[in-house]
Amino acid sequence: MTDAKREHWDEVYRTKAPDSVSWYQPAPEPSLRALDELRLPVTASLIDVGGGASSLVDRLVERGWSDLTVLDIAAPALDVAKARLGDETARVAWVVDDVAAWRPERQYDVWHDRAVFHFLTEPEQRLAYRCALETATAPGSAVIIATFAPDGPERCSGLPVQRYDAAALAREFSSAFTLQRDWREEHTTPSGGRQSFQWCVFRRR
Ligand SMILES: C[S@@+](CC[C@H](N)C(=O)[O-])C[C@H]1O[C@@H](n2cnc3c(N)ncnc32)[C@H](O)[C@@H]1O
Repeated sequence: MTDAKREHWDEVYRTKAPDSVSWYQPAPEPSLRALDELRLPVTASLIDVGGGASSLVDRLVERGWSDLTVLDIAAPALDVAKARLGDETARVAWVVDDVAAWRPERQYDVWHDRAVFHFLTEPEQRLAYRCALETATAPGSAVIIATFAPDGPERCSGLPVQRYDAAALAREFSSAFTLQRDWREEHTTPSGGRQSFQWCVFRRR
C-alpha cells in the first residue's frame, strides 16, 4: 500500500510544476496565522507532516525557527523545497516516509498537517497516524490540522479523501487532544477553483 502511495506522489511531483497543483498556495497564510496565535519562541520545534513542496518551511527559516522537520512520502517533493532553500537546506531535517508507517524518534512542540490526514480513508490508517502523532507530541504540544471541509472536494490529486468539519476532527483526536480553535478557509486553486478547508488547532493533554 505504501509503495503504491509513494509511486503516486512521486509521479505527481516529477510531472507537475509545484505552482500548478491544486493545493499550491503562493504564501502559507493560514498556517502562519495559526502559528502567530500560538506565540511560540523560534526555538520551538515543528514538524510539517506531508509538507511536500510547501513554502511554510521557507517562511519559518526566514523567521529564525531553528528546529524544523519536514516529512513527506515523496522524496521529489522535498527536493523541490530543498532546491528553493539552497544553503538553508541544512537547517531543516528532512524525512521521507509514510506518516502512517513512521515511527517518530522524538517529540515536537508543533505538529502541522495541511491536507494529508484527509487522504487516510481507512480506520486503520487513521489509527496509525494517531499513533505517530501521539508518539511525536508531548502534553502541551500544539497540533494544526487542515482537511477538506464537508463541502470541499471528494478527491484530491485523483485520490479519494475523507472530509471533516471541526466536530468530526475533534472526535478523531479526542483520545489525547483538546480542540482550541477552528475555522474554515476557502482556498483558491491555481486554476481559479475554490476548495473549502476545515482548520483545527488542538492542544495535547
Ligand atoms: C495535498 S498535498 C499538501 C502538501 C503541503 N502540505 C501543502 O500544503 O502544500 C499532500 C502531501 O502529502 C504527502 N502525502 C500523502 N500521503 C502521505 C502519507 N501517507 N505520508 C506522508 N506524506 C503523505 C504528499 O506527497 C503531498 O506532498
